[in-house]
Amino acid sequence: MKGIILAGGNGTRLYPLTKSISKQMLPVYDKPMIYYPLSVLMLAGIKEILIISTPRDIAGFLSLLGNGQKLGIKLEYAIQEEPNGLAEAFTIGESFIGDSPVALVLGDNVFYGSDFGSRLLESSALESGSIIFGCHVADPSAYGVVEVDNEMNIISVEEKPENPKSSFAIPGLYFFDNKVVEIAKNVQPSERGEKEITSIINEYRNNGELKVNIMGRGLAWLDTGTHEALLQASNFVEAIQKRQGLYVACIEEIAYRRQYISKSQLIELAEPLIKTDYGKYLLDIASEKTFQTNK
Ligand code: DAU
Repeated sequence: MKGIILAGGNGTRLYPLTKSISKQMLPVYDKPMIYYPLSVLMLAGIKEILIISTPRDIAGFLSLLGNGQKLGIKLEYAIQEEPNGLAEAFTIGESFIGDSPVALVLGDNVFYGSDFGSRLLESSALESGSIIFGCHVADPSAYGVVEVDNEMNIISVEEKPENPKSSFAIPGLYFFDNKVVEIAKNVQPSERGEKEITSIINEYRNNGELKVNIMGRGLAWLDTGTHEALLQASNFVEAIQKRQGLYVACIEEIAYRRQYISKSQLIELAEPLIKTDYGKYLLDIASEKTFQTNK
């Protein structure tokens, strides 16, 4: 499976923070926001990843992450000229996707939870159909919303409904088979002028090829869409890291634990960061002072 991180958009809801830099480059506590969705794809075992961003911001991501070699993965880059909607990820990414299934993660989505790594690995084994997730939220009307019955049959999928039919928002993480490329080509802009991901999801649903995984209370899905939400996400990550002594979305650690890089490569990555707790953490990992399961 291949992976796409969609990290474009104008970020106008975070002005003036995002007037001259990408939203997905802003800090969530101690690391750039894009580390979080990147860690999700890495935990899913996906090693070939396309990062899509704006003509202005793409160079920043390339300078931050390079070709991925240092993490034992392969990163490619593509431009979305205008924020025409999430469905464009698959048409922009057509040649990158080739004949693979593909996972899409939105560059501003932060996840954290027990057993999340194994759920991701299960999802990335998908060969046909599609998988989305459902997360209970206080105000679902700000998101895509999925309605399910007691047997987990999907009754409806709606984008930002005024009167949501359930409390399950659809987070920005989707797994599709290769048909998504052709489906995306036929998506028409919605009333708000965007090629919606929910149009793709509904096409899979109509064909009986959509599965939803409802995430329980053990999984945190954090918003970064407003100044307040961004601060709350930072505070959350700080609290977890300080309490557990284990980092959230530490891409170097994931690369090491998934055996994409060796111990000496990990130490090399830690060296320029050594003045920070982040760098010291990487060295601790390399010397096995920190225990963690492979999940
Ligand atoms: O976060 C999950 C939600 O993301 C889903 O529940 C919704 O179904 C989905 O439509 C989307 O809603 P948002 O209103 O949050 O999408 P937003 O326009 O904020 O864009 C999400 C991210 O994707 C953001 O980091 C900017 C980036 N983006 C967005 C668009 C529309 C792009 O890179 N290109 C785009 O064309």
